[in-house]
Amino acid sequence: MKREQLAEFMRRMEPQSVAIIASAREAVRSNDTHYRFRQDSDFYYLTGFDEPEAIAVISPDAEKPYTLFVRPRDPERETWDGPRAGVEGAIERYGADAAFPIDEFRAKLDEIIQGKRTLYYRFGTRHELDQMIIEAIARMRALGRRGIVPPRTITDTGAILHEMRLIKSEAEIALIERAADITAEAHREAMRAARPGMHEYEVEALIEYVFRRHGATAAYTSIVGSGENATVLHYSANNAVIREGDLLLIDAGAEYQGYAADITRTFPVSGRFSRPQRELYEVVLETQKACIAMIRPGVSMDELHNRSVELLTEGLVRLGLLQGAPSKLIEDGDYKKFYMHRLGHYLGMDVHDVGLYYVDGQSRKLEPGMVITIEPGLYVARTQEVNEDYRGIGVRIEDDVLVTAEGHRVLTAGVPKEVEEIEQFIARARVEERAA
Ligand code: GLY
Ligand code: MN
Ligand code: MN
Repeated sequence: MKREQLAEFMRRMEPQSVAIIASAREAVRSNDTHYRFRQDSDFYYLTGFDEPEAIAVISPDAEKPYTLFVRPRDPERETWDGPRAGVEGAIERYGADAAFPIDEFRAKLDEIIQGKRTLYYRFGTRHELDQMIIEAIARMRALGRRGIVPPRTITDTGAILHEMRLIKSEAEIALIERAADITAEAHREAMRAARPGMHEYEVEALIEYVFRRHGATAAYTSIVGSGENATVLHYSANNAVIREGDLLLIDAGAEYQGYAADITRTFPVSGRFSRPQRELYEVVLETQKACIAMIRPGVSMDELHNRSVELLTEGLVRLGLLQGAPSKLIEDGDYKKFYMHRLGHYLGMDVHDVGLYYVDGQSRKLEPGMVITIEPGLYVARTQEVNEDYRGIGVRIEDDVLVTAEGHRVLTAGVPKEVEEIEQFIARARVEERAA
């Protein structure tokens, strides 16, 4: 039985074509130790096969349309690294029509591509395989007189696959919802537990404990930034001591069975927003809610982003952080001192998921089944020459939103984000803790 995704991929391939799709490789962390293995999303989407050193060859018109090249069984290595499916398992458990040891790929490559009109392959991510394919094509060009011809067209696999991945199936939505629920629980746990005097990494540990407790991992390096660390967009040191009066910005998301969530919340560790914190927070919150409210099929990502720029710029002017007419400040890009990223991105197997954002030069319109993040932020670096009250404050609020036929559904609503809601949530947590 082929996975539905694989069957659909085959339906979309050109006649007389073949696709070559490689697994991820093990990545060295230091010397001879590796990072935890994470399968390549494209490869996993099609095959469900979770081992390194594998290649899928897919050719719908061939006698055996689906071939897997895999690591062969090896009792000695399996004692160290765990079981392998092997050639037999690739056929019996993963539905391949044929399977071979990965070491035979090179020798079979000419046979695989010869006579096919189109080769689907994504150049630029695996240089050794790129080279192997280029050499095979060059070799074949020299053999035309014997009737051996290489594919005329080489198409990025993503042209089919990433379009498929962009529109989520019911089963995929269920997994993203599960990742979102786990992530929401982790953020609530952090909001309850964070205190002045703790290190940021203690909060990171709590969040990732919740992820692991549910069989998930962190989809990306968690950002736990207190005080002015929240103004550093990719802060990940997470090693400062949280101080009384700080806002804590947490951007963390679980990956569950290959699908990611991505939530940011910003809250006062002492339980109450100061006036300047609250003022900035409310500008971001109102922007975030207004942009979410716009989400429905037919609206483009640029329309959403542009609306966030307008609302944040107007807010910055109201607070005196920018002076002048908002339209001019937008035209000149002055708002970028405080809002330097885009409003959001596609979400799925990759946290910054695949799929084109522009089609024929036009910002793409939303369609049912897309999942996007909405994450406006304002970041007033300590060095900005503005009213001192606002310096060193960073705020981002991020939710994950499914586009539906009727409009949208927020998948991450389970974490407080209204000012009063956050303050009450923290106050209640303190009371419960004292009572316990
Ligand atoms: N955590 C990555 C992002 O928010 O885009
Ligand atoms: Mn994000
Ligand atoms: Mn994020």
